[in-house]
Amino acid sequence: MKKHVVELCSGFGKVTEWFRENGYQAHRFEYDPWFKDIPGTTIKDVMDIKPEELPMKPKFLWASPPCNTYSLIGVWRYWTRDHGKIRPKTFDECRFIKGREISLEKATKYYTDLKESLALIRHISMLIEKTQPKHYAIENPVGVLMHVLFDWDRIHFDQAIFGTVGRKPTHLFGELPSQLVEYLEYRMEKKDYDWEVTEAWGKKTTKRGTLGLRGSRLRSMIPYELGRVIGLAVEGRLSLEEKTI
Ligand SMILES: C[S@@+](CC[C@H](N)C(=O)[O-])C[C@H]1O[C@@H](n2cnc3c(N)ncnc32)[C@H](O)[C@@H]1O
Repeated sequence: MKKHVVELCSGFGKVTEWFRENGYQAHRFEYDPWFKDIPGTTIKDVMDIKPEELPMKPKFLWASPPCNTYSLIGVWRYWTRDHGKIRPKTFDECRFIKGREISLEKATKYYTDLKESLALIRHISMLIEKTQPKHYAIENPVGVLMHVLFDWDRIHFDQAIFGTVGRKPTHLFGELPSQLVEYLEYRMEKKDYDWEVTEAWGKKTTKRGTLGLRGSRLRSMIPYELGRVIGLAVEGRLSLEEKTI
């Protein structure tokens, strides 16, 4: 019987590539038609997916929704601090950034983006609840999403472990295989990846765009190696000595 994995907002689909190579059926969903030729990709808005369209109890479900409203860059466009807590702005609050009034047009865009991104997280959570994956993760760069998914388990690591150019501090929220959690903690503590290379690229960031990579699609690509390590952990055969780069 075929084993199933699901990748939402899948882009290049690298997270489920190792699974595909190892006999799983990867169900990928992405709304940017640029990715139409990535195998197993359905071009569709995740908001339009009904739980019945997904396999029940997949071995793993991954979602990497856009980070624009959760990123620490531009955080005060969308979020406000209220009695020490970070919460989404109301429309009226969106009219001001750090006390300065902005145009109605900009405020409307920020508010709409915020509402849509929160709705996407709610929809992904619903799909997880209904399809009951054995393991699952919502990925985002370290930022404000932790104030939305504040009651979810989460782990923090840097994708540089898996060979990204430049540091990529990342949160995974969800139910992760314990081997993966141990592995990421171990690798972060060991710091055995090449900070100098990642730092050098980081410094070029301002001159050449984030991480020195051209194009937003490439910049947000998740490394294949992360998916491979996840796959090994899902199968219960990830060793702490596993190399990534
Ligand atoms: C942060 S990127 C993730 C990239 C992907 N993990 C990769 O490795 O290429 C977010 C992706 O989600 C897609 N996306 C955003 N909103 C979506 C939606 N509502 N439905 C489907 N895809 C969406 C974007 O087109 C983009 O490719």
